[in-house]
Amino acid sequence: MAFFFLLCLVLGVFSTIINSIPTISVTGAKFFTSEGKQFFIKGVAYQLIEDDPLVDVDQCERDATLMQELGANTIRVYHINETADHSGCMNAFASRGIYLFVDLDSFKTYISYSGQPSWTEEKAASYRAVMDNFQQYDNTAETDSPAAPYLLAAAADMTKYRKAKGYRDIPVGYSATDTGALRPMLQDYVACRPDETERLDFYSVNTYSWCGAATEYQTSGYPALQALSQDYPIPLWMSEDGCNTAPPRDFKDQNAVFGPDMIDTWSGAMIYEWIQEMNHYGLVSYGAQQAPDVTDGTRIVNGFTREGQPVPVQPDFDNLKQVWATISPTGVESAAYAATFSAKLPQCPDYTADGWKVDAAAALPTLGAQGVSSGMASGVPSGSITVTGITNPSAAPTNGTGAGESGVNGTATPSSTSTAGAQSGAQGNAMIGGNYGLFGVLAAALAMGASFVFFI
Ligand SMILES: *[C@@H]1O[C@H](CO)[C@@H](O)[C@H](O)[C@H]1NC(C)=O
Ligand SMILES: *[C@@H]1O[C@H](CO)[C@@H](O)[C@H](O)[C@H]1NC(C)=O
Ligand SMILES: *[C@@H]1O[C@H](CO)[C@@H](O)[C@H](O)[C@H]1NC(C)=O
Repeated sequence: MAFFFLLCLVLGVFSTIINSIPTISVTGAKFFTSEGKQFFIKGVAYQLIEDDPLVDVDQCERDATLMQELGANTIRVYHINETADHSGCMNAFASRGIYLFVDLDSFKTYISYSGQPSWTEEKAASYRAVMDNFQQYDNTAETDSPAAPYLLAAAADMTKYRKAKGYRDIPVGYSATDTGALRPMLQDYVACRPDETERLDFYSVNTYSWCGAATEYQTSGYPALQALSQDYPIPLWMSEDGCNTAPPRDFKDQNAVFGPDMIDTWSGAMIYEWIQEMNHYGLVSYGAQQAPDVTDGTRIVNGFTREGQPVPVQPDFDNLKQVWATISPTGVESAAYAATFSAKLPQCPDYTADGWKVDAAAALPTLGAQGVSSGMASGVPSGSITVTGITNPSAAPTNGTGAGESGVNGTATPSSTSTAGAQSGAQGNAMIGGNYGLFGVLAAALAMGASFVFFI
């Protein structure tokens, strides 16, 4: 039965949910598969349409096939419909060994919405619904942010909910924009508290500070990121990675992320982004670009077609493929690592009146808290993470539906004004992560003569 089922899946004529992939969980500062191997993210940001891109199964199949050729093992999706059926797309990605990070927040449920941070029952219900929808898939791995105490409170509530529902340990973490001055404080804050339940499962940062072929590790922004992150006690990765100010992109930064300077600290990177949009970060397109005023439902938006056969944007696509092909880190085994890991917590950042307006000693806000709380020494912590001045002076009118970034600094900024992007970028995001490495499992299991257990 199992064999038949598998065959059918391989042939692509079976769409039932298959949960047979190693799941991803966190031990100490690293991700591990349920087989005990360290997991490194080679990812691509994926949001073809502003609405849920995980319901069109044929499209997912086409894209997942090319992603597998590219060498990606993870995608990040910013916006989904928590009541839709995602099983077809999740299987499409799972069967190619591709895991997903899914943002928990939708555009209206950011911790900070309309400038006011809060953690409310309504938001909690929406986040729970996303987790309910995706926990059933083995390739879900998660992400979210801005008003730090609210963010931590939300993460702690989601973790409690996950436990109460008996879900597996789907990591819940946060994706932050790289805001220079404030980022170090946030990064430390989310991992500094002595109560483990008040720390994130992982932290990730959008970074656009390696631009052009002339850049090397020492001249990039990476040594600074690394210096702030040495000994960080939870997994850390780049939730958006890219810079297109000096095309074509050669993706040589991947050698650094997975190289000796960074690999003990970083768990990989998510390349921004899959689809070509006005911001020119795309790795694929779906046909010739049309005039910017051409829009046809969700199929064509602002002149960019968003469905059909993906066609690589060259040489960028092949450049990334070639770089990734030379990178296959093994890392450490979970058992050996767990036996020696002991968390060195960063010091919680001090409150400063003109910068980090968070009192680390205060209790986290409780559900329903809004604006001023015991955690917020001076009311709305708008200074903490919200990014200002994110426009990209060099970019054409960007208006993608995809992610978006936040802006390292004005010059290297990408998708700033993309509809979805500007928001998710400026706010940072909460995510869920997971995977369906079906082929990998199949190969391993066949090699070992193991039998499969499917949850049909
Ligand atoms: C979300 O999915 C449900 C179930 O498929 C559907 O009824 C609803 O219209 C969708 N919502 C949006 C905004 O697309
Ligand atoms: C971006 O798209 C939105 C929604 O379609 C539209 O209201 C806005 O004017 C567009 N911005 C630009 C710069 O094209
Ligand atoms: C900002 O971008 C410029 C141009 O890419 C770069 O030289 C500079 O180092 C960047 N600053 C930071 C803080 O990343």
